[in-house]
Amino acid sequence: MSSRTKIIALFAAFACGALILVVAATALLPSRQQTGGSGIAAVGGPFKLVDQDGKPATEALLKGKPSLVFFGFTHCPDVCPTALFEMSEIFNALGPDASKLQAFFITVDPERDTPEAMKAYLSSFSPQLRGLTGTPEQVDAVKRAYRVYSRKVPLDGGDYTMDHTAVIYLMDKSGTFLAPFNAKRTPADAAGELRRYL
Ligand code: NI
Repeated sequence: MSSRTKIIALFAAFACGALILVVAATALLPSRQQTGGSGIAAVGGPFKLVDQDGKPATEALLKGKPSLVFFGFTHCPDVCPTALFEMSEIFNALGPDASKLQAFFITVDPERDTPEAMKAYLSSFSPQLRGLTGTPEQVDAVKRAYRVYSRKVPLDGGDYTMDHTAVIYLMDKSGTFLAPFNAKRTPADAAGELRRYL
């Protein structure tokens, strides 16, 4: 893990409750993060999950279209619904080109986020957004691949929330990580940048 990645992880760890840190984490990353000389981005990799319909979902889903990949959980009070709303607005702004982009919401809370829970939750957002979940072990593996941090935080009364990395990853048509994607701007601006990758 590069020092830069550590800084990002540190910032992003507390991002769920503090929107500004999401922006800070995004700003810290250059447009193309590289590992020590290989030139290959160190984010992403194979995964075995299921989608919101309970169908197997692997990294093969990322091939053919550029993708936005975001990790979160359906009980998230603010950051996740905000990010999913922003992504939905970007799909709206893309108009007829929306079908050339895809987006995945991968849970960090597999205990509560069953395929059914993901499907119900995502019905409030763009139909282009697909939810992915799995066993705790499968979710841990995809989190490691994407350098995602999350932590269960107990709440009064036995409930819990999750701190988690809140970076939107932009992957190219081959499923390779390009850059963190900044959705904190007008949907038209964000869509304009994405059109370059469609
Ligand atoms: Ni969240």
